[in-house]
Amino acid sequence: MIQHDSISSYADIDTPALLDDHYRIIHERWWQAMTACALDVVILHAGETQFFFEDDQGPRFQANPHLVQWIPPEHAVANSCLLLTQGQKACLLFHQPEDYWHATPQAPEHLAPYLEVKIFPAISDLKRHCIEQATRCSTRPSHIAFVGPLTDQTLLQEGWQANPAQLIHRAHFARANKTEYELAAMRNASEMGAVGHAAAAQCFADDGSEFDIHMAFLTASAQNENQLPYGNIVAQNENAAFLHYQFQQRTSPAQLRSLLIDAGGSYRGYASDITRTYVKTDTTANSEATSVFLDLLERMQRHQDSLIAAVAPGQSYLLLQQLMHRQLGEILVETNILQCSAAEAFEAHLTEAFCPHGLGHLLGLQVHDVGGQQISATGDLCPPPDNYPSLRFTRPITQNMVLTVEPGVYFIPALLNKYDAKDQRFNWPLIESLICYGGIRIEDNVRVLPKGVENLTRDAFSVIQTRGGK
Ligand code: GLY
Ligand code: MN
Ligand code: MN
Repeated sequence: MIQHDSISSYADIDTPALLDDHYRIIHERWWQAMTACALDVVILHAGETQFFFEDDQGPRFQANPHLVQWIPPEHAVANSCLLLTQGQKACLLFHQPEDYWHATPQAPEHLAPYLEVKIFPAISDLKRHCIEQATRCSTRPSHIAFVGPLTDQTLLQEGWQANPAQLIHRAHFARANKTEYELAAMRNASEMGAVGHAAAAQCFADDGSEFDIHMAFLTASAQNENQLPYGNIVAQNENAAFLHYQFQQRTSPAQLRSLLIDAGGSYRGYASDITRTYVKTDTTANSEATSVFLDLLERMQRHQDSLIAAVAPGQSYLLLQQLMHRQLGEILVETNILQCSAAEAFEAHLTEAFCPHGLGHLLGLQVHDVGGQQISATGDLCPPPDNYPSLRFTRPITQNMVLTVEPGVYFIPALLNKYDAKDQRFNWPLIESLICYGGIRIEDNVRVLPKGVENLTRDAFSVIQTRGGK
């Protein structure tokens, strides 16, 4: 039997200190938002199981993330809901069907100090109870809000508000700043990711295929596909130029050159989002291009270090995005991929041909967590500038945010083809020779401290290395 030792070695996050703090903070956040929106009751609904067209099979159930902040995913089962009432302990109406097709989900008894838990075998009884309890606790129907997917609207009573924008804005804005419990969950998610990445690196060293590496990651991180925070991106050679490459080739290419793996762990519904890139140095074919790509990889690592060093409260992420492109300009010139000045590479937007995504994003209950372009609790937005349309994070950096820092450089034919083949600023023969390596991305997750950051990803790699060395 395979031992998943790593699982039992993760820190226990269900401690009274962490849970007391987390539930106090999220109760207060929601009550404040409810006061601002003149709401007496909010119903956070998990959602319902969905089915494919004309089928009794469907996608995996994934609960409303607002509910997962209160109830870990294994307990946030379909049809359940949480009633939030001003000044009162939240109340979970838990759907626990008496079923013989599926095993019975267990109610989160360990959360009894923080939540009232009521169990309902029948959905109809759960809904009736929800309507009665909400109505009893409110002065009028418009002071009740339903928050969740609107696939089944039978719970939504006349006059109730559905997903009121002002409430959702406040919830999204607040989610950026993590509680200590959430940070502890994300440290564990980072360790899961690091364990998976270490196995993936070994599998690549052994010439494993994309599929082999994907499976090695799952096994080592003790996750099945449904538990991943996002689908693994395992891309060898030119496939690494697809930012979210979604296939897994069952055999390795005859000439295996590079691997980009973007894969994370999920712990209590909180994600890590980690990317590493590797190059085969023992390949004899195309050795000049290999040495340029290896040089590029080393420079990209130092580039990422310097970007992480610039993250701090009050810092503008847009400035960091510009810094990323300025430094990328220097790297592309130093490696002779661009044959102009670094200043021109930046100012003429040439670097954007090599990195079409943003520097990073908020991370948490969702891999691209909500509220990254929201600059106020009331929903004011700061869209990214036209030349960086994919930048997901534009708000000021504040303490206890968890952000990704993921600079990249890619050789994407579809983007490069937009430039004039006669433009001598591009070293086309060298670029051509690098297309078969795909690209490089290095992605860490950092928590913002009063000064600088805690690097969850690097810390996780250190922890697993120490553990492995024992
Ligand atoms: N894993 C997707 C991303 O890095 O944004
Ligand atoms: Mn990311
Ligand atoms: Mn990623």
